[in-house]
Amino acid sequence: MHATQQSPGEWVRIHPLAVRAGHWVNVVAVVIMVMSGWRIYNASPVFDFYFPKSVTLGGWLGGAIQWHFAAMWLFALNGLAYLGYGILSGHFRRKLLPITPRAVFHDVLEALRGRLAHEDLSVYNAAQRAAYVSLIAALVVLVLSGLAIWKPVQLYWLAWLMGDFDNARVVHFLAMAATVAIVAVHVLMVILVPRTLPTMITGRARRTA
Ligand code: HEM
Repeated sequence: MHATQQSPGEWVRIHPLAVRAGHWVNVVAVVIMVMSGWRIYNASPVFDFYFPKSVTLGGWLGGAIQWHFAAMWLFALNGLAYLGYGILSGHFRRKLLPITPRAVFHDVLEALRGRLAHEDLSVYNAAQRAAYVSLIAALVVLVLSGLAIWKPVQLYWLAWLMGDFDNARVVHFLAMAATVAIVAVHVLMVILVPRTLPTMITGRARRTA
């Protein structure tokens, strides 16, 4: 049935299976990568602080590297499948575009005032679009800087693009920090608008209007 002919109370499809499966696999992979990454960082900190051992994974440097590399394959393959699906199916074009600075500014302001309506769960508002696109961009930078640190000899040009090996480590850290910050706001928004959570699990929601 056509969307405009649907009435309140009817079930509508919000998130396709490919996006839902990819999203939750990604959550597992990202949590493992971030926590083991913090343990790897602690072995040779770039900045003047350590992460508390209780929030790290792997126990020691060798263990953390094994977790990081195991989750890396899950994360990269899942990410490539998501990017491929998003581009080829038109999902990104339909759900994440267009984004205009004006609309993002407006919706972020409304969200801060607690006035941003999220009635139609099948459409992302401009603040969400900006957050998801920034998140995807941060994850791409994470992978590229990670590759530069992993294979600095074979992929010397990648490290060179980021300055040098040490700079690639800083880029990797900053991309991690951006990812963690955006995800923190993302999860806070899900807690504030809990109706969105079941849609990312079952893929469906009842129309409210
Ligand atoms: C426990 C943690 C998380 C929860 C509960 C959660 C929940 C959700 C929900 C409910 C949506 C749909 C929002 C809506 O329909 O309005 C969503 C979308 C999304 N989330 Fe998460 N999320 C979590 C972690 C993450 C992480 C770690 C990432 C990436 C690093 C992420 C990236 C995304 C992206 C990119 C979308 C948009 C997907 C698309 O439509 O293509 N999320 N998330």
